[in-house]
This record gives sequence, structure tokens and C-alpha cells, in this order.
Amino acid sequence: MYKPIEIADGIYSVGCRDWDIRDFHGYSTYEGTTYNAFLVLGEKNILIDTVKENFGDELLSNISRIIDPKLIDIVISNHSEMDHSGAIPKVMDKIGKDKPIYCSKMGAKTLKNHFNQEFNFQVVGSGDSLEVGNRTFSFLDTKMLHWPDSMFTYLAKEAILFSSDAFGQHYAGDMFFDDEIGDEIIPHARKYYANILLHFSPRVQALLKDVAKMDMKIKMICPDHGILWRDNPSKIIEAYDLWSRQEPCKKAVVLFDSMWDSTTKMARAITSGIESEDVNVRLMNTRKCHRSDIITEILEAGAIAVGSPTLNNSIFPVIADVMTYIKGLRPQNKIAAAFGSYGWSGEAIKILNKDFEEMKMDIIDPGVKIQYVPDEADLERCFELGVKLAKTLKERLS
Ligand code: FEO
Repeated sequence: MYKPIEIADGIYSVGCRDWDIRDFHGYSTYEGTTYNAFLVLGEKNILIDTVKENFGDELLSNISRIIDPKLIDIVISNHSEMDHSGAIPKVMDKIGKDKPIYCSKMGAKTLKNHFNQEFNFQVVGSGDSLEVGNRTFSFLDTKMLHWPDSMFTYLAKEAILFSSDAFGQHYAGDMFFDDEIGDEIIPHARKYYANILLHFSPRVQALLKDVAKMDMKIKMICPDHGILWRDNPSKIIEAYDLWSRQEPCKKAVVLFDSMWDSTTKMARAITSGIESEDVNVRLMNTRKCHRSDIITEILEAGAIAVGSPTLNNSIFPVIADVMTYIKGLRPQNKIAAAFGSYGWSGEAIKILNKDFEEMKMDIIDPGVKIQYVPDEADLERCFELGVKLAKTLKERLS
């Protein structure tokens, strides 16, 4: 149960907390998440977004603590992904199927596909607005942030931006606003950016420029996940500007899997080499670290080293999982090197280098491959690879 909160005059947060979810389509959500939805009362009562299907009854119950849900006149769907649209059929059954759903053109198409139902779609896009009494709802296309249908809804007089997934975080707790939780929320927002939006960073940059040109006043940002930014919305806008520029920091990530600890020893030696050059480093065993935490560390890193033994003429399955995930999110501006032990064929380095090439990472060394167990001289080579990575990164940053 989520106690509805009046976030501004006549505007309520009525969504649901999902305390239990730990895997959000492959993203580790250690602190659950929320599906935020907003009820705007006025001459017409408007519901902005809904929740995941199995939270539909809870959403209606939350709304009924404020008004009879049947009194909702309009639904705005900023995003058709199921965590925000899953309860639309239940809501429409309750409020009347003929009531309008305002959404983007792609939103109408996707909702139709999802539910195999016709609703009274009112298609809107950038430049369109809906006047209701003394409120004006303006719409802004945010295509591919992060789906083709995504859009924002902006209430001009109140200066509230309903931003769908953007600026969100997977966090369910007893705090609802940025001023309550403080900077503790930033790692959650960073992880959200790295896992959901990194791929679309050029679009984030373009959107931020458009919004700056529009001179849009923003007093509050209400994303569809996590806390609402009412105290300092510019903080998360600035963070998005930083993350989407993908400027590398003086930080490296060494990730690896190992069969008999030979690649582990190599990873540790490389890490020591990086540290010896005063570059920050995170050593991540892919069996212990979730892929969504790995990409979060990679977000701000300027260098990456990936280690895999050769198994069946290929890389290890967990490394393949992580590399597939990283490739999909397209991190930019990284230097890279591969390493790993092998028994008799040793294809892993070649495969990892191909992955780096596909990601347009700058391969600064052909990589270090060691047969069976590294001896002292081998580990020295690994240490030197770490030094080379760190020195190259520092040169690029200077
Ligand atoms: Fe939170 Fe793209 O859904």
C-alpha cells in the first residue's frame, strides 16, 4: 500500500511500491522499485500513467482514497512499457472504456498491440497541449528515451514535469522526495541511467539542449520510478548532462571470470598495475557482480580490462553474458585490453578484442594470454598491462 501524497495543489502521487522485485528484466533491483502514477484533480480529473498489471487493484484503491476512480475523465499514457501501462485495461474497465487516453502515435500503436483492444486514443506530440480549466498539459515527444513511444507531460503553471522513465531510479523506500533522501539516491539514479538510458545518450544530450532552448521552468520532476525531485530538480538534470556526455574519468574497471584462478591472479596483477599509477580501479568478478552493477561502474570509467579463460574455443559464458549486455548499452570513449589464461587453443583474447572493436573501444594492447598457470614473469606482464592502461588513460585525460 502506498499512501497517496499530495505533491502540489490538487495533484497526488497514487502509484505503488514493488518491495519484492529483485530482477527487473535483467537489471538487479536490490531495493525494489516503484511504479509512480499521478492523479491531477480539476475540471476534469486526469490520471498520468498507471502501474504494472498486478498492482492495478492497489492503484485503484489508492485513487479511491482521494476520489471515486469512476470520476477520472482522462488518462495520459507517457509510456507504454508494461510497468506503466499494464493496469490500463483494469483502469479503463473501471472508469469507462470510452474515456480518452492521450498518448503518442507510437504509444497508441503499442498499447493496441499489448492489449489487443481499441481504446479512445487521442494522439498528441510536441507542440500539442490539453487545456483543462486553469491547467495546461503540454506534451513533449521523447522518442527513444527510451522507447519509440516515450513522451513527457508538462504542467506549465505548476512547473511540474512528468518525465516517464527519465530521471527515475529503482528504489522503494519510506522516502518519496529528493530532500528527504538526499544524495543517497544518486547511486540509484546513476545505475538507472547506466542500464536504461546509456544507449540513448546522444538523444539525452539533444533533449537537454531542446529543453534549455524552451526555457522551461521546472520546479518538480516526477519520474515513473523512485523519488520525486522537488527540492533541486536541476541536480538530476546536471547529472544526466554529465552521464550522457560520457566523458571518461580517471577510473578503470577490471572484470573477469576464472576457471582455476589463473585469470583471477592475472586480474589482480593488472589491478595492482593500474593502482600503482594512481588511477581508481574496480575489480569485478563476473560470477559475483551483477551485469547491471558492472555497467554502472563502467559508465564513468575511462578504461576497461576484460579477462576470460578459453572454454570450448570461446569465452566463458558469464563473460559472454556481460559483454552482450555491455555491447547493447554502447558505452563510449573507453580504452580497453583483454587478458586470460588458456590450455591449448586460447581464442578468448581474439574474441574479446573483436567485442571491443564492435563497441568502438580503443584497444591499447593486443592483450596478455598465459598458458595454464601464470608464473612470476607472467604476472609482471599483467602488472605492466595495468600500468599501460593507466598511463594511456591519464595521457588521454590530460
Ligand atoms: Fe519503467 Fe520503460 O518502463
